[in-house]
Amino acid sequence: MVSRVIPVEVFDLVIFGGTGDLARRKILPGLYRRFLAGQLPEGARIIGAARADFDDAGYRQFVNDAICEFVKSSRHDKAHIDEFLSRIKYLPVDALGDAGWQGLASLMRPNVIRAFYFSVAPRLFGPLAERLHDHGIADAESRIVVEKPFGRDLKSAKALNAVLAESFDEHQIYRIDHYLGKETVQNLMAVRFGNMLFEPLWNSQYVDHIQITVAESVGVGGRGSYYDKSGAIRDMVQNHLMQLLCLIAMEPPSEFEPDAVRDEKLKVIRALDAPDQQDIVRGQYRSGEDTPSYRDDAENDESTTESFIAMKLGISNWRWKGTPIYLRTGKRLRERTSEIAVVFKDPPHSIFGEQEGRRGNVLVIRLQPNEGMNLRVTIKEPGPGGMRLIEVPLDMSFAEALADGDDIPDAYERLIMDVMRGNQTLFMRGDEVEAAWAWTDPIIQAWEDARKKPVEYDPGGSGPDDSLMLLHRDGRRWREIKA
Ligand code: BG6
Repeated sequence: MVSRVIPVEVFDLVIFGGTGDLARRKILPGLYRRFLAGQLPEGARIIGAARADFDDAGYRQFVNDAICEFVKSSRHDKAHIDEFLSRIKYLPVDALGDAGWQGLASLMRPNVIRAFYFSVAPRLFGPLAERLHDHGIADAESRIVVEKPFGRDLKSAKALNAVLAESFDEHQIYRIDHYLGKETVQNLMAVRFGNMLFEPLWNSQYVDHIQITVAESVGVGGRGSYYDKSGAIRDMVQNHLMQLLCLIAMEPPSEFEPDAVRDEKLKVIRALDAPDQQDIVRGQYRSGEDTPSYRDDAENDESTTESFIAMKLGISNWRWKGTPIYLRTGKRLRERTSEIAVVFKDPPHSIFGEQEGRRGNVLVIRLQPNEGMNLRVTIKEPGPGGMRLIEVPLDMSFAEALADGDDIPDAYERLIMDVMRGNQTLFMRGDEVEAAWAWTDPIIQAWEDARKKPVEYDPGGSGPDDSLMLLHRDGRRWREIKA
């Protein structure tokens, strides 16, 4: 194991919901990969806590299985896995009762970082916070990590913030939006604020429009009952797409410091216009040849929840007034692909004759798959025969351009280590979450008042035709959804 990373300080990480799906798929495999990278210091411990009646050995087997299933096999070295497992403990704890809390209190060590990951339903956030506090398990330096959904509207988000605030200060609360941990998302800030090239052009004078696409090929099968109460707007737009939008649109913070960054993001959310209902398209996937319909997946024949949404947004500030931002996200689309495209305006005058509507320069930031960037520029087509212009990509794939580029850490790995370092830059502050809900609530309310139904779309495509029209009518086109 050759370490190129600086280990964090010794910690005890307690994962409430330690036997759940997120722990199995993301948190535990991610911690193992950080261990392999040499980032877990000697003495760091991971303590699973849940209702299930495991002992240490049983839980270690669970963690071992999770590693075997979710970490690539080239990394299944038995000696490393065993060493990692020796840091794992388990304690049955009842989030709503008294069982296990005394045991947890006596397990805690002085002078190590204490972090508590609430990988549980939001209704348990309050009871967990209260018990950690009452049993003296959490100290003033302890951190709690909370997962989305953080509320389902402004009222419930405020209530959650209030209940956490009874036991923890804001600087102790890490609200995860895993999109912020994605490597390319962080790169967005590096590209914008680490180069001189883009920032002078990053405004409505030069940017024609921005497209943000988060497309998924899977349906909602398996989580239909949760999803049916959320829909794409609560599940993706209020959080992930909103965060991407903030990073694209925010002013340069004075420093790369948590509150400086989050202050700027908050200003973007507050400057977002309320979208016109005719600038929103909601869709629901039909059944395909061998795929069930959304309603079948959700087990709700009458469902009016959207599995796709596209919207045109405006930001009322000096930088962005007049540049539309188009968002779209949906399930059962052609490919799993996420990208942000900044489409620049044409030069004001073409010295090469008629070149109307070309929009030659596009900066594409690919979030997944094949993370990287692509800048489309106009050049002369090679060869004799006059000045014919073509667009070519300056393409940078992380996998090709960077050593280890094909082994980019998962978002969760990065974020959990940030918790241990005490760095909140990539976590949402309470007021940010509330502002995002304050913008989202009236949109949802208007659908409910109008009893608006989503339009159906075929699986495996680009979503409803109406979403194409959203851009066509402005003389623009969505980029193709392709991996
Ligand atoms: C989750 C949503 O937050 O993000 C899911 O609840 C969605 O519905 C997922 O599938 C997408 O994340 P990623 O990292 O796979 O793009």
